[in-house]
Amino acid sequence: MKKMLHMTSVAFIAVGALLLLGSIQNADAAFGSSGAALNKDDCIKCHGVIVKQVQDGGNKHKSEVSCLECHKGTHPPGSQKGALIPKCAQCHKDQPHFTLAKCASCHQNPHQPLNIILEGEGQKAACNTCHPAIIKEIDSNPTAHTGFACSFCHEKHRNKPDCLDCHDAHAEGQKFENCVQCHQAHQPLTLTYNETVVNSDCAACHPDVRDTLEAGPTKHAKFKCVFCHANEHAMVPECQSCHDAPHSKTMLSKFKTCNECHQSAHDILK
Ligand code: HEC
Ligand code: HEC
Ligand code: HEC
Ligand code: HEC
Ligand code: HEC
Ligand code: HEC
Ligand code: HEC
Ligand code: HEC
Ligand code: HEC
Ligand code: HEC
Ligand code: HEC
Ligand code: HEC
Repeated sequence: MKKMLHMTSVAFIAVGALLLLGSIQNADAAFGSSGAALNKDDCIKCHGVIVKQVQDGGNKHKSEVSCLECHKGTHPPGSQKGALIPKCAQCHKDQPHFTLAKCASCHQNPHQPLNIILEGEGQKAACNTCHPAIIKEIDSNPTAHTGFACSFCHEKHRNKPDCLDCHDAHAEGQKFENCVQCHQAHQPLTLTYNETVVNSDCAACHPDVRDTLEAGPTKHAKFKCVFCHANEHAMVPECQSCHDAPHSKTMLSKFKTCNECHQSAHDILK
């Protein structure tokens, strides 16, 4: 006959030494070689805090695996301390991420595996197991950002910081969405953009050019900066890239540049 466990009352008043000992013996019997088994519903009687943790934030350690699948064997005092504790590698193997050292440095509570703390060394190596393209990007474009730990900016996993948490805008009213039109978080000095950038964003640093251009009477005055200075900061276009052959060759051969007559792209003389 299998022994049944009757310990509800024991567990709840297990404050005195004698009663506690009694409860451990009961647990031991339940895990023991006799073949009697503790039901998963019994754990709450003595490990209420952990059961609640699993209930609240166990994620797949709640839904895909049970207390008893992780804690196999003889319950103390019939076993050495630690004997019931599984290694992560028992179930997680064959992926680069699972070759990392010290799983518990990030997954600090096995009962809430996605409650992840990002800190300490070796972090980049950990991120690298799932985001290799980002590590490659930040390392091959050396800037001040390259020297930071990932968690300097990503305090929690999946969090994306605002540039404005750490930097001032170039001009009033600029938001994160503007910053990343010209900058990329992991290579902030690669200044590329598309045609959506507005003139006021350029004017934050080139106010005179904007004022001159927009005050002009010619068709150029209506163009966005990025229509001519396309794609990459400090790129300067040739007039001929848009104006194929505006004048005769004989006429042009007498002048070094278009601007000898037209003055400036921003302030065209006609
Ligand atoms: C009657 C109370 C009681 C019940 C029921 C009980 N435990 Fe325990 N458990 C204890 C006590 C007390 C300890 C601490 C023993 C020690 O430190 O020597 C313990 C320790 C443990 C440990 C740590 C063991 C180690 O090797 O370090 C694990 C894991 C554990 N219990 C899991 C469970 C699970 C899973 C269940 C439900 C299936 C369960 N216990 C049911 C009282 C209980
Ligand atoms: C995915 C595996 C896994 C599951 C599922 C799991 N545990 Fe654990 N449990 C662990 C690991 C790993 C440790 C060791 C934690 C440590 O070293 O801090 C542990 C530790 C414990 C301890 C000892 C705590 C201590 O402070 O010494 C108890 C008790 C325990 N678990 C009970 C439970 C109960 C009850 C459940 C189900 C509600 C459960 N565990 C579900 C992996 C698991
Ligand atoms: C007895 C088997 C077992 C052990 C031991 C175990 N896990 Fe798991 N774990 C699972 C299963 C099953 C899943 C769900 C399937 C999957 O994601 O691989 C899971 C999922 C996870 C997840 C994803 C959770 C989610 O909700 O997406 C994390 C993180 C995790 N485990 C970390 C750990 C860590 C860290 C350890 C060691 C402390 C550990 N596991 C030990 C079985 C285990
Ligand atoms: C430097 C921190 C760090 C270390 C160390 C670490 N992990 Fe993770 N782990 C993470 C992050 C971040 C995630 C992503 C969680 C998410 O998807 O939200 C993750 C996800 C997981 C997942 C679920 C994702 C999947 O592929 O299904 C498992 C399982 C896991 N880790 C197990 C482990 C094991 C086992 C170890 C040790 C060998 C370990 N982790 C070491 C940070 C870490
Ligand atoms: C086990 C794999 C794993 C590890 C390790 C991991 N991540 Fe992730 N990470 C993911 C997954 C999966 C997503 C969700 C991807 C998606 O939504 O495209 C994600 C998403 C993110 C996001 C948000 C992406 C978005 O577009 O919203 C950030 C930021 C992030 N991770 C940073 C990190 C950092 C920093 C580390 C190292 C400390 C890290 N991750 C480690 C798997 C991981
Ligand atoms: C958590 C703080 C933090 C966040 C978030 C952050 N940065 Fe930085 N960034 C710094 C620090 C610190 C430096 C180095 C000192 C300085 O130049 O102010 C730096 C440097 C820079 C540099 C100069 C790089 C160099 O090598 O000279 C640029 C450009 C830059 N950041 C742009 C951005 C942009 C754009 C974002 C958003 C996508 C952003 N940063 C998000 C902290 C941050
Ligand atoms: C200086 C701050 C900073 C540092 C350091 C940093 N990131 Fe980011 N990261 C950001 C910002 C800001 C975003 C959001 C960019 C966006 O939405 O355009 C981001 C986005 C991400 C994303 C989402 C995918 C994407 O490309 O938008 C992942 C994944 C990520 N970072 C991983 C990492 C990893 C891994 C490291 C360490 C090697 C790291 N980050 C270092 C600021 C930083
Ligand atoms: C229209 C494109 C553009 C936009 C939008 C933009 N930047 Fe810049 N940013 C630049 C250029 C160009 C430089 C380089 C100036 C130089 O070479 O000195 C720069 C330089 C920086 C620097 C380096 C330090 C400095 O001030 O010279 C930081 C930090 C920075 N930007 C942050 C931001 C933030 C934060 C935002 C969003 C509020 C932002 N940028 C929006 C083009 C832009
Ligand atoms: C944060 C300040 C900043 C912003 C914003 C900015 N610039 Fe500049 N720009 C500079 C600085 C500083 C220089 C001179 C150093 C250099 O060449 O990188 C410069 C130089 C230039 C040059 C001249 C390159 C040469 O060879 O003479 C052009 C063209 C230019 N910027 C266009 C733009 C356009 C178009 C925008 C908007 C998309 C813009 N800039 C936004 C700071 C900025
Ligand atoms: C990115 C293309 C582009 C570049 C570079 C460019 N232009 Fe233009 N320009 C135009 C367009 C488009 C028009 C309007 C044509 C039309 O509507 O017929 C124009 C009009 C003109 C006109 C006539 C103005 C008017 O109001 O009728 C002159 C003169 C001119 N450009 C000279 C120049 C000179 C000189 C340069 C170099 C310093 C130059 N452009 C560079 C695209 C460009
Ligand atoms: C029609 C095309 C066109 C437009 C629109 C245009 N540029 Fe230019 N830009 C040029 C050309 C061509 C040059 C080379 C010098 C010249 O011809 O004046 C130049 C030169 C520059 C220079 C470097 C020399 C200088 O004058 O300081 C800066 C900075 C600059 N542009 C910024 C801007 C900004 C900011 C805007 C928007 C307010 C803008 N440009 C709009 C075509 C254009
Ligand atoms: C000797 C002075 C001179 C030089 C050099 C010169 N232009 Fe002109 N350009 C003019 C004059 C004057 C006009 C106005 C004539 C007209 O409207 O028919 C003009 C008109 C134009 C127009 C407007 C044509 C139209 O149909 O409205 C364009 C575009 C133009 N020039 C581009 C250029 C470019 C590009 C260069 C250099 C390759 C250049 N010009 C060199 C004097 C010059």
